[in-house]
Amino acid sequence: MTNKEIKIAFMEYDSIDQLEAQDRKVAQAAVEAMKLSYAPYSEFNVGAAVMFEDGEIVKGSNQENAAYPSGICAERTAMFYASSSRPDGVMSAIAIAGGLKGELAANPATPCGACRQVMAQYQLKGGKPMAVILVGASKIWKFEKVDDILPLIFDSI
Ligand code: THU
Repeated sequence: MTNKEIKIAFMEYDSIDQLEAQDRKVAQAAVEAMKLSYAPYSEFNVGAAVMFEDGEIVKGSNQENAAYPSGICAERTAMFYASSSRPDGVMSAIAIAGGLKGELAANPATPCGACRQVMAQYQLKGGKPMAVILVGASKIWKFEKVDDILPLIFDSI
């Protein structure tokens, strides 16, 4: 038997101003996208922004439904829109921001497992690392690639 350990590395910043220019742009877009959220049931508004390699940004937000499972997270809204509008585009980063009743939470909202799996797929499709930037009011976390937030990615088929 061998004991194995997986370590996750990420950067922590205290404010959006500390991010480098491109990261700051996509992070700000995620915060803006919170305003586009439709979350009448949870009142937890999430915004996501995908940045393509060439700097173009598309936004998405969580969209809830009275039949709860029919709703969808902000991250998947943004990535599905990104891939539908630019099927050959390479997604270089995704930023996520969330909070109750439209107010950005102090600590970053972390993406659900389903959204991490979808990130993994688009990273694989693009063939380049996709950075994941989680934006809170007092802490920002940056993961250089999806693998860092989803260890042991399923990509076996
Ligand atoms: N939500 C997201 O948009 N992204 C996540 O990664 C987790 C949760 C949404 C789904 C639902 O509309 C609300 O947040 C509360 O769970």
